[in-house]
Amino acid sequence: MSYRHIPAMLNEVVNYLDCRPGNVYVDGTLGGCGHARAICEKIIPGGTLIGIDQDIDAISNAETVLKDYSSNIHLFHGNFELLRQFLEQIEIDSVDGILLDLGLSQHQIENSGRGFSFRKDEPLDMRMDIQSRQTAQKLVNDLSQQELQKLFREYGEEHRAKQIAKNIVRIRRREKIRTSKQLAQIIIDSIPAQAASKQKIHPATRVFMALRIAVNRELERLETFLEHAVDLLNPGGRLCVLSFHSLEDRIVKQRFKALEKGCTCPPKLPRCGCGQEPRLRILTKKVGRPSEEEIAANPMARSTRLRAAEKL
Ligand SMILES: C[S@@+](CC[C@H](N)C(=O)[O-])C[C@H]1O[C@@H](n2cnc3c(N)ncnc32)[C@H](O)[C@@H]1O
Repeated sequence: MSYRHIPAMLNEVVNYLDCRPGNVYVDGTLGGCGHARAICEKIIPGGTLIGIDQDIDAISNAETVLKDYSSNIHLFHGNFELLRQFLEQIEIDSVDGILLDLGLSQHQIENSGRGFSFRKDEPLDMRMDIQSRQTAQKLVNDLSQQELQKLFREYGEEHRAKQIAKNIVRIRRREKIRTSKQLAQIIIDSIPAQAASKQKIHPATRVFMALRIAVNRELERLETFLEHAVDLLNPGGRLCVLSFHSLEDRIVKQRFKALEKGCTCPPKLPRCGCGQEPRLRILTKKVGRPSEEEIAANPMARSTRLRAAEKL
């Protein structure tokens, strides 16, 4: 089966990463390898790409798609929060650019069979890494009503979190919730028809997104990665992050700002006492968004936000 995914903001990403022959780059989210392949084309001869994905299907796909560059690439199945360990394994101390393109590939949504889509009837799994233990089915059946409500509100920004959580708990007393279709129906039934007809998105969109974020601990992993990513860049090296969710984008924005500022002293102090120097220069003063033409050609790219920075 071909691995479907159209890379978002491809030209912008390659430009911000400033890909050059002979340099070393990391793609922490290989997916369908659209970005990875474009990076490979720019860095030969002599360059190296370290490719990571926590989904083993993406790694198998990369072995095929990037076979022309096999002498220039190192592939790792695992989480990008472990980048430092992966680099140690291949004895690389620092790199010239790192890309994260967060979230899911179209392949995962449409063909993985893991219940990411509310339009399908699949087991409620939602793991990007099938070796991890948490699943959406466990969360939906085991969390308390209050915990579900909090999860849907915080990660999904779902206004009807309380009603949906209440209905999940009521239904699961009768039968275990096992499939994406079952859950989608409970959510649809929780929303008055008039309110649902006014929504621009499917009523289950936010709850499914919240569960996926929780199952894969997406926000914590992004934060852990951003804590040490700058240490792994060469001076002048670039960090580029594509996000699709306001919570992810806020984490990236705040971390970039803090690293650009350096000093962490309260503004009231007359002189800096922390001694922390600026470490990054933000390249995207205004967040990057896809063009109208790109959105028309690839509606999935609609909510993409791009932030890029350069190590000082
Ligand atoms: C939007 S897709 C990337 C698409 C890719 N840039 C392309 O051009 O096809 C996101 C990919 O990142 C992977 N992923 C998400 N979070 C990850 C993490 N914390 N560590 C490793 N891989 C992750 C997913 O499994 C998925 O394959």
